[in-house]
Amino acid sequence: MSLFKDFPTSKEMEARQRLKKLYEEIVYHNERYHGLDAPEISDATYDKLVQEARDLERQFPQLKQNDAPTQKVGSEVDNRFEKVSHTIPMLSLENAFSEGDVENFITRSRKLLGLGPDAVLDMMAEPKIDGLSASLRYEKGVLTLGSTRGDGQTGENITHTIRTIHNIPTHLKGSNYPDVLEVRGEVFLPKEAFAQLNAMREAEGLPLFANPRNAAAGTMRQLDASITAKRPLRFFAYGLLSPTHPQSQREVLDCLKAWGFSLADNIQRCHSVLDLMDYYRDMNEKRARLPYDIDGVVYKMNRVQDQEKMGFVARAPRWALAHKFLAEQGQTILKSIQIQVGRTGVLTPVGELEPLNIGGVMVSRVSLHNGDELKRKDIRVGDRVLIQRAGDVIPQVVGVLPGDHKRSDPFIFPTRCPVCGSPVMREENEVAIRCTGGFSCDAQAKERLNHFVSRHAFDIEGLGGKSIDFFWEKALIHSPVDIFTFQNRDQQSLTPLKNFPGWGEKSAENLFQSIEKKRHISFDRFLYALGIHHIGQVTAKAIAQHYQTVETWQNAMVLIVSEGEEGPAYQDLLSIDSIGPTIADSLRTFFQKPPNALLVKELMAVLDIKPMEKMDRHHRPFTGKTILFTGTLQNMTREEAKQQAETLGAKVTNTVSSHTSILVVGENPGSKVEKARTLNIQILSQDEWMDFIKN
Ligand code: IVH
Repeated sequence: MSLFKDFPTSKEMEARQRLKKLYEEIVYHNERYHGLDAPEISDATYDKLVQEARDLERQFPQLKQNDAPTQKVGSEVDNRFEKVSHTIPMLSLENAFSEGDVENFITRSRKLLGLGPDAVLDMMAEPKIDGLSASLRYEKGVLTLGSTRGDGQTGENITHTIRTIHNIPTHLKGSNYPDVLEVRGEVFLPKEAFAQLNAMREAEGLPLFANPRNAAAGTMRQLDASITAKRPLRFFAYGLLSPTHPQSQREVLDCLKAWGFSLADNIQRCHSVLDLMDYYRDMNEKRARLPYDIDGVVYKMNRVQDQEKMGFVARAPRWALAHKFLAEQGQTILKSIQIQVGRTGVLTPVGELEPLNIGGVMVSRVSLHNGDELKRKDIRVGDRVLIQRAGDVIPQVVGVLPGDHKRSDPFIFPTRCPVCGSPVMREENEVAIRCTGGFSCDAQAKERLNHFVSRHAFDIEGLGGKSIDFFWEKALIHSPVDIFTFQNRDQQSLTPLKNFPGWGEKSAENLFQSIEKKRHISFDRFLYALGIHHIGQVTAKAIAQHYQTVETWQNAMVLIVSEGEEGPAYQDLLSIDSIGPTIADSLRTFFQKPPNALLVKELMAVLDIKPMEKMDRHHRPFTGKTILFTGTLQNMTREEAKQQAETLGAKVTNTVSSHTSILVVGENPGSKVEKARTLNIQILSQDEWMDFIKN
C-alpha cells in the first residue's frame, strides 16, 4: 500500500485551483445573467464554463462541493415574489455540443431501452426556444397560476405577468381536458419587439438589454403588469403534466394546440441519428430568419413509455437532450480604440478591428461597452482578440489571446469629452461615463437633434438620419430652434435649398410644409423631444399633465434652480406620482445649464405648444367615480382594464361597497355581482362598458 495514497497529485491540485476559479466565474456570471439581466458573456461561453467544471467534477469527484453552482438549475428565487412550490420539479436538459455527444446519447438510450443498433428510433426534434421556462396551472380549464422555474423546486408566482401574454389562453379551448393540469413552455420576446424596446430605451437614455432573453427576463420579473403589457411577450408550449397524460410527445403537442396554445414552428419527428443531424443543420441554417431566438434544438424520446423507462438523473431527464448551437468565433487584431459620444453624452469605447468574417458576416467594429469592461478584460490596442457572434447578439470581444509581441500601454479612459473637451463624469451607481457638455457638445447636439425629430417626439417627415447629417454639415441646422427658422433663413439665402444638388422646388417645399405642420405640438411631446436624461414618453406625459402648460412648467423649473431641493417648487415636482429624486435632479441639472434654459425659451417663442388641460378634461369623464372589475375579461387583462379606467379619471377598487359607482362584469363572475345588486350599483357587461367609454 502506498503511503502517498491520500495525498493529492499535482494534477488534482491543478484541477482544484481551476475548479475554484470556474465556480467563482459561474457564480459571477449567474448573478449578471439572472440577478441583473445583464450578461457579459454569451450563453455558449457560459455553457462551456459549466461543462468544463462538470468534467472536472467527474474526473475528481472528491473536489466537488455540495453547494457547487454546477448543481443549481436556473436562478435563485427572488424575494419580491410569492413563492410557488412546483408539484413536479422543473428540470433542465443535458447539453450536447457536438455530433459525438449526440451519438453517445443515442447509444446510451438504445442500451436503456434494450434496442439494437439498427432499431428505428421514435423521437421528436424541437427548436430550443431561448427564453425562460414557465409553468401554467389550469383548473377546470381556467388559468389559475403562472410561475417561473426559480431553482427548479420553488419558483415565483408571476400570474400577473402571464395574464398579459396574448397567446396564453386564460380559458382552454374545447372541453376535452382534465380538471387540473399544468402546461410547461417557454416565455420569450420576439426579435422585432426586442429591437423596438431597445430603440425606445435608447431614446429614453436607459441601459439597453443585451439580447431578447434578458429583455424577457427583465419583463417577466416586473411587478408592474402595465409595463409587462407593453412588451409583447409570447409563449410556446412544449410539455404537459396531467393525470391523463397522452401516450407520446406528439400527442401532447396536439392536445396543447387543440386547447389553444401556440407551438414553436418546425417541430419534426425523427427516426435516426442522421435525421437528428439533418434537423440540427437545417435549424441552424433557418435560425437567423426565425422571428424569435433559438439557441439549439431539443431531442426527446417520443413515447411516454420510453421516457418512463429511461427516467431522470438529478437535474435532467435521461430521455431528452439539448443540442446547442455554437457561438461563432474568430481572431483578429484590435487596430484602435475610439470613443463615441451618444445623445445622453455616454462615452462608449469602440474597437476598430482588422476586418474578419464570422459566419458570413463581416465584422470590423466592436463595442467595448465601457471603461470597466476594458479594464477587466485588459484589452489593449494591438492585441490579438477573440471575437464572438452568438445568434443575433452584437459581436463582442471574448478576451485577449496570448502573443509574443510587446503589448501597448493600457488604454486610458479620457477625462474630457473627445468631441467638445468638456469634463466627463460618472454618476453614482452607474458604469457609464458621460460628457457634461450637453447641447454645447457637437456629438450630443447631433444625436439630440435626431431624437428631437424622431417618431415619438416631433416626428418631422423628411428630417432625420441622413438629412440631419446633411444640414448639420452645411451648418443650416445645429439646434432644434434652427429647424423652425430654417424656411425664413432659406428665403433670404443666396443659395436656397431648392438649388442644392438632389433638391428641387417641390422637395424643399415639402420639407418646409412638414416642419410647419409640427410647429403645433402637444406639451408632453415637446417635453419628451428635449431629450432630458431619464425623461421618456411616460414621464414626459406625467409631468405635462401635472403642470398643464409649458409656461407653468418653465416657471417652476426656474424656481427649482434658484430655490434648490428644499424649495416648494422642487417638492411640488416630487409630488407627481411617478417622479422621484433621480428624475427631479435630472430636470434641475438640465435647467441649471444656461444654454438649455435658453433653448427652452427660444423654442417656446417659435412653437405653439398645446396645453394638456383641455385634453385632460375631455378624456377624464369618470373623475370621482369608483369602478370595479370582476370575472375574466375578454381581450384585455385586468391590469389593462384598470389602467384604461384610471386614465379616464376613475378610481379602481377590489371590493364592492356603497361607494362603488359601476361594476363591470366579465366571464365567470363571483359573488360581487350579487352584492352590487343589493347595493343598487350600476352593473355593465364588458361590451356595455366598452360602448360606454367609446361614447
Ligand atoms: S423540454 C424536463 N423543450 O430549455 C425539461 N425545453 O436548457 C424539459 N427549452 O428548462 C424541457 N425549448 O426552459 C424543452 N422545446 C423545448 C424547449 C425547452 C426551450 C428550455 C427549457 C428548459 C431549458 C433547458
